[in-house]
Amino acid sequence: MGSILILYHSQEYGNTAVMAQAVAEGARAAGAEVTLVNTNEQRMDIEQYRQFDAVAFGSPDYYSYIAGGLKMFLDDWYIARKSNRQGLENKPYGLFYSHGGSGRVRRPLEELFSRMGRQVGKTIASHGRPNEAVLEACRDLGRQLANAV
Ligand SMILES: Cc1cc2nc3c(=O)[nH]c(=O)nc-3n(C[C@H](O)[C@H](O)[C@H](O)COP(=O)(O)O)c2cc1C
Repeated sequence: MGSILILYHSQEYGNTAVMAQAVAEGARAAGAEVTLVNTNEQRMDIEQYRQFDAVAFGSPDYYSYIAGGLKMFLDDWYIARKSNRQGLENKPYGLFYSHGGSGRVRRPLEELFSRMGRQVGKTIASHGRPNEAVLEACRDLGRQLANAV
């Protein structure tokens, strides 16, 4: 059974959190063990990050960029990688985001997280509260990640 981390930031309305829960649902249904971390509530422990087999990253669009909590994770990741790359690279990962209308975060999100390994599935976007089609795409991403490990 693979272990999957869902690392996301959600703060304003909980839109990104709803997407994260749907990814978790799909991954659990496919047999994976899932851990959810909201960077608005805690900083991701980079040593713990090394242990996961696959990851889903989710962010709201904040000023056409990723949320600060996820940026902090990327900074920790870069620095930790200098001393030991083990478990920090080459992971299968998926991406999702929510936005208020412009959704320009897609480009920085895809570019920044391309360092993490191999993207599984397509990046999922939600304009505001996720609708059923978005939630099903999120569940499917969870299933794909579970099957990738
Ligand atoms: C500080 C801040 C900046 C934002 N900037 C943008 C933006 O540049 N483009 C956009 O489409 N939405 C923007 N939004 C809207 C959020 O991306 C949107 O409401 C999102 O669904 C919030 O996710 P959450 O409820 O999970 O926190 C911004 C919201 C906040 C709080």
